[in-house]
Amino acid sequence: MPMPHEPQPMTPTVRSAAIIQPIPAPVMAPLLPLDHDAQLALIAGARDAKPVEGLTHCHYNYPARFSPQMVGQIIETFTRPGDLVFDPYVGGGTTLVEAFARGRKAIGSDISTLAEFVTRTKLVSLNPTDAERFEATVRTVASKIHMNLPEPSFDDWAQLGYFRNLGSKNRWRLRKAIAQAVGAIEQLDDPSHEALARCAVLRTAHWALDGRKKLPTTDEFRAMLECSAGIIARGAVQLYHAVEDHRVLPPQVLNRSIIGVDEDAAVIKAGAPRLIVTSPPYPGVHVLYHRWQVDGRKESPAPFFIAKALDGSGETYYTMGGRSKPGLPTYFSQLDAGLRSLANIADNQTTLVQVVAFAEPEWQLARYLSVAAEAGWEEVKLSALGEQEDGRLWRAVPNRKWHATSRGKTGGAREVVLLHRLNR
Ligand SMILES: C[S@@+](CC[C@H](N)C(=O)[O-])C[C@H]1O[C@@H](n2cnc3c(N)ncnc32)[C@H](O)[C@@H]1O
Repeated sequence: MPMPHEPQPMTPTVRSAAIIQPIPAPVMAPLLPLDHDAQLALIAGARDAKPVEGLTHCHYNYPARFSPQMVGQIIETFTRPGDLVFDPYVGGGTTLVEAFARGRKAIGSDISTLAEFVTRTKLVSLNPTDAERFEATVRTVASKIHMNLPEPSFDDWAQLGYFRNLGSKNRWRLRKAIAQAVGAIEQLDDPSHEALARCAVLRTAHWALDGRKKLPTTDEFRAMLECSAGIIARGAVQLYHAVEDHRVLPPQVLNRSIIGVDEDAAVIKAGAPRLIVTSPPYPGVHVLYHRWQVDGRKESPAPFFIAKALDGSGETYYTMGGRSKPGLPTYFSQLDAGLRSLANIADNQTTLVQVVAFAEPEWQLARYLSVAAEAGWEEVKLSALGEQEDGRLWRAVPNRKWHATSRGKTGGAREVVLLHRLNR
């Protein structure tokens, strides 16, 4: 049986900070006006360590994705059906799936075309009959994968470098299997099935290539593709049943930066969100959102080819700047601009919930909070947490491999759930 996909490694880089500031004292922030039981439910949801499951969450393991239980509870706590939820760093779309299933309006945006593809695909629902047809379609696609059959040519993608690092003597078979599957998918005439089938190949190729020492055989690849189609079909049917009685329109997915989102026509039209829940790239932490790691540290942009989405950007584009400069000036100036754009679309009913991990929490958390305050956001705390730790809602990050933990550091293995309201 194929092994489940291992999570992406993430590497915090330890640099000396320009300004080392202590974590602010817990007593300074005002308390969130939320009754005690609601606070306890929020805390339990954030600390729920169950593996990711349900709805369409298992279509693709997007790096550093949210726990659906946590984001679901955050949505329940701060919104009612029909309210608007916004996630400006939407990644693999966990927020939009949970919001849609709970009858909330939702908008998500991300600069990555891969994130846009994954999110849009996770929002496709299928009725049970259509789901059976989809699975049969993927079985036909899988039957076209054979090393004795020709490899379809994707010269334009090859010239742009999307097959980089897939030509070696042990990986060419997988490249050929992927190309044969994508070639067969391009013959489909149902756009929803095409997107879901691409997602099944994406999931399978991720499992087959990313961080793998021993590569699967062609037979195992074919079997995993059919297994992925089953998981995707069942998820899409679950979503279908979750939303069938709701009257809200499906969420909108925008391919754009958080910076300037306050000038985006779709966002302006939607009005102030009741909840902004999001997880930006983490300061000083290396996450490969847009590549798979093959053959040790070599990177593959194949996910974009499979998703039929153009990439063209390097790591710093997706992580808000490089990690080399002390004090991470690019990261914090982008954070500042993004939080200012969010302040412009919010009103005094909006709660901003950010889930952030830090390579060096001892100075980065204080810097993060001071940037948020300058951008117009006031931190609020939960009275139910009392004097625990620094009075903030910290959570362990289950199943995430941080290189920092092996070096004895603990910062990266935990995230904090920061709560803010506008300070005007
Ligand atoms: C931590 S991930 C979000 C994961 C998401 N919460 C999920 O459940 O899958 C951060 C995302 O921010 C995106 N990103 C980075 N800079 C951005 C920007 N300026 N505007 C919008 N998205 C950006 C990255 O492409 C990445 O997908």
